[in-house]
Amino acid sequence: MDSWNGADGWMAVTPDVSGTVLEARNLQKLFGDFPAVEDVSFDLRRGECLGLLGPNGAGKTSTIRMVYGFSPMTSGTLRIFGQDMRDHWRAIKHGIGVCQQENNLDPDLTVLQNLEIFASYFNIPHKEAARRAVDLLEFMGLEHRGGSTVTELSGGMMRRVVIARALINRPELLILDEPTTGLDPQSRHQVWDRLESLRAEGLSILLTTHYMDEAARLCDRLVIIDHGKILVQGHPADLVKEHVGRDVVEVRDPGEEIRGLVRDLGLRHEDLERRMIIYGSEEDRLFDRFTPLMCGGSCQLRTATLEDVFLVLTGRELRE
Ligand SMILES: Nc1ncnc2c1ncn2[C@@H]1O[C@H](COP(=O)(O)OP(=O)(O)OP(=O)(O)O)[C@@H](O)[C@H]1O
Ligand SMILES: [Mg+2]
Repeated sequence: MDSWNGADGWMAVTPDVSGTVLEARNLQKLFGDFPAVEDVSFDLRRGECLGLLGPNGAGKTSTIRMVYGFSPMTSGTLRIFGQDMRDHWRAIKHGIGVCQQENNLDPDLTVLQNLEIFASYFNIPHKEAARRAVDLLEFMGLEHRGGSTVTELSGGMMRRVVIARALINRPELLILDEPTTGLDPQSRHQVWDRLESLRAEGLSILLTTHYMDEAARLCDRLVIIDHGKILVQGHPADLVKEHVGRDVVEVRDPGEEIRGLVRDLGLRHEDLERRMIIYGSEEDRLFDRFTPLMCGGSCQLRTATLEDVFLVLTGRELRE
């Protein structure tokens, strides 16, 4: 890790034979007596995108703040690029790019100045920083906004500037806390395209999101946490298959015929009184069984999604 090459801004990381970029073991974060994160362990492999999902207050931000050194661990170990974070943080941080949950840009500076000043924290020479800043703004579709002050930007533009800024040191590990919150569909798709192209070049990504379509599209693996603990981890499609199945039927105001069928077949379901959600595997043949009933037009037949997994595992109760 001490092989950080400040001259050209790239970190020469000795490749970990296991290809593991990040190894988090038994992470714990206490705020006073309150355990925001309890015994969280996961790995992130080189070139992989790992998604941390969970309801509001689940402990996602608290977890990744420990990973990017913003918040000290109460206990646990973190190895990044094969090095223990407690001993090698100064070198490790040069290889990490961070987009925090908040748009923490300097409002008194222009967009370009924000990127250039940030580059100086990594000892990137000014000329090189200016070049990278221009390239990154173009990469994020903001080339016409370099001279704007931050206060002149829309919320969605600020978000894209924060993502651009996170790339200024050409990180090997990119950490994104809700990167696309507040973005319109066009911008969100643009960010997804950019993140996919970065990952294709070998960048490793750790992200949190509340958008299940984003997680399904971008992430190779997911860790779902709640109340500071891991509920499950796995590949998005495997989690759907394992925890929900393949098909879902949603019925509005289910009548006795539907309830009887669900009961007789022992189908897994959630009864929300005015709405019943029925989950089935391939063998349950939900579509074959429910299509003839048509449920008086009140049935919706659809494919199981990650959102179903999320709600099945974390419940439907609102968080504080
Ligand atoms: N500095 C702090 N002091 C005390 N409690 C905190 C602090 N930061 C976070 N918490 C608490 O820790 C828990 C986890 O918060 P965290 O911000 O990690 O959640 P999150 O999963 O990122 O949620 P969200 O989806 O809303 O961003 C919450 O109960 C929160 O109130
Ligand atoms: Mg958060």
